[in-house]
Amino acid sequence: MDQAEQLRNIIKQQNKKKHLARVITVTSGKGGVGKSNISVNLAIQLGKLGKKVVILDADFGLANVEIMLGIRPKYNLADMMFRGRSLSEVICSGPKNVGFISGGSGLRELTNLNRDQVQNLVRMMYELDNIADIVLIDTGAGISNTVIDLVLSSAEVILVATPEPTSITDAYALLKTLCRHEEFYQNKTQIRMLANRARGYDEGKELFSKLDAVVEKFLHVHMEYLGYVPYDEKLPRAVMMQQPVATAYPNSPSSRAMLNLAMMLENGEAPEEGAYRGISGLLTKMFRGKKPRGKKTDDKG
Ligand SMILES: Nc1ncnc2c1ncn2[C@@H]1O[C@H](COP(=O)(O)OP(=O)(O)OP(=O)(O)O)[C@@H](O)[C@H]1O
Ligand SMILES: [Mg+2]
Repeated sequence: MDQAEQLRNIIKQQNKKKHLARVITVTSGKGGVGKSNISVNLAIQLGKLGKKVVILDADFGLANVEIMLGIRPKYNLADMMFRGRSLSEVICSGPKNVGFISGGSGLRELTNLNRDQVQNLVRMMYELDNIADIVLIDTGAGISNTVIDLVLSSAEVILVATPEPTSITDAYALLKTLCRHEEFYQNKTQIRMLANRARGYDEGKELFSKLDAVVEKFLHVHMEYLGYVPYDEKLPRAVMMQQPVATAYPNSPSSRAMLNLAMMLENGEAPEEGAYRGISGLLTKMFRGKKPRGKKTDDKG
């Protein structure tokens, strides 16, 4: 039995009476377009709507989210996977009851797990599925393999773009890369574009129309529009204060836009049935995708 099959079996066994978190991956083609700010502030606004949200920071380079939330996690996902830390040790608490998990190198190292580690990981992810209504995954910049894996394994993706031309071409490049993978079609990943730093409703909508037109024409990919967050000088000011804008300036234009988007996410169309896989389902998919190609793993644990 290979590792992926083991993992699927464990999940099947535990699959009876369980609650699954809704997993939303926040990504972009170009870096610096506002993913981390959007993840943090959406999480806080969803928290205000009574949802229990956990942010999983999958940006391995910079600890953006930690700084923004003013927290310093002691342990990360890799500590949980390899060094026996429990979920409660790895999860930190931020404003509005938003939970935070630092990814560390954990997501990159899914292939290196032995059977006990796999079981451990699945157990903890079930725990996370139980405690969280929504898991928001903040990804790093650029088209890395881990980002692609995460997006391909997610039921819901928020693609952040800004009106700069490079942001649009990079968003297109990311979608083009995704299209090369069968899983993209198999998993029916729902992609919603969010226009950040737009000057208003029209600019946001126009940005979507531009990208959507080329994406439909050349990639035949269906994308939806989630909405826009305006350019707001309060946002960088909050970043300087190491606070999320939603708590530092709750009435600022970007905070209000983020509250609207949180409501849209809550009340909008739910992903197709079967797409609701929870964080455990996401990891199973990632794990499957990472099976060494052309080599049969015969891990007897
Ligand atoms: N709506 C906005 N209005 C004004 N400034 C913004 C807005 N959104 C983001 N910014 C600015 O862009 C900077 C980068 O944002 P952020 O760190 O969230 O981007 P990112 O996509 O996560 O970057 P990276 O790709 O490096 O992870 C912020 O520090 C802020 O100064
Ligand atoms: Mg970031």
